[in-house]
Amino acid sequence: MTMTLRTEALCKQWGGFKANTDISLTFEPGARHALIGPNGAGKTTFINLLTGGFPPSSGKVFLGDEDITRLAQHERVKRGMTRTFQINTLFAGMTVLESVMLAICERRGLQKVWWETVANHADVVEEAMALLATLKLTKEANSITRSMAYGKQRLVEIALALATRPTILLLDEPAAGIPSAESKELFEVIAGLPRDVTVLFIEHDMGLVFRFADRITVLVGGKVLTEGTPEEIAADPRVKEVYLGEAEHA
Ligand SMILES: Nc1ncnc2c1ncn2[C@@H]1O[C@H](COP(=O)(O)OP(=O)(O)OP(=O)(O)O)[C@@H](O)[C@H]1O
Ligand SMILES: [Mg+2]
Repeated sequence: MTMTLRTEALCKQWGGFKANTDISLTFEPGARHALIGPNGAGKTTFINLLTGGFPPSSGKVFLGDEDITRLAQHERVKRGMTRTFQINTLFAGMTVLESVMLAICERRGLQKVWWETVANHADVVEEAMALLATLKLTKEANSITRSMAYGKQRLVEIALALATRPTILLLDEPAAGIPSAESKELFEVIAGLPRDVTVLFIEHDMGLVFRFADRITVLVGGKVLTEGTPEEIAADPRVKEVYLGEAEHA
């Protein structure tokens, strides 16, 4: 079931410094929603408030009708909200298929049987292969993750996140640190994910943002400057000012 994610006047303060101020946003089911803004605008902070990385100073987060503001991270994952994490050393040394199967087994509560009787769980292999096909990783199923190109490793991270069956996927600069030729391919796969997954992503490359987002929110100084379609944002003089200002100081 797809659900709307919504925030109500979310604030996060570190001492006297306000990293997020009164952020009220709605993320429609199936959206490819980009969160943009200069360095230090509070984008990562906002994602952490959504996932439960730390509690807000005030304000609320709703998933559907449920107030999830105080839920632990794993409880939010159970309800369908997932973010990517960098592949840890264990996963990096495994094959792509093994990693994704492990994540699926974890979701299904099959951790104990994993090392003994994988053969008895052909449906896990099937689900994993279907997921890899969605991410165009079929050919890499038997590759060791750490030996792959960085862009492909990012796709494996997304596969691991999708193994939790999210309805909302949160991506904080998924293309950071990968060659630009690979980042376009990465975003093509992200944009092409099934529409029952809502995607909220932070990205600095405006070419990628305007190509792949259908909704854009601009954060500046911890506040929402504006929100709209890519056309509306591109035409907004206040947005141009923010980015021109940045370029002048670069
Ligand atoms: N744990 C923390 N304690 C104190 N200040 C913090 C903490 N985390 C973030 N900040 C501050 O909050 C502000 C917003 O940081 P945040 O990481 O959310 O920005 P961002 O928009 O993600 O920036 P970037 O584009 O560089 O990733 C920054 O000034 C940062 O220094
Ligand atoms: Mg950030």
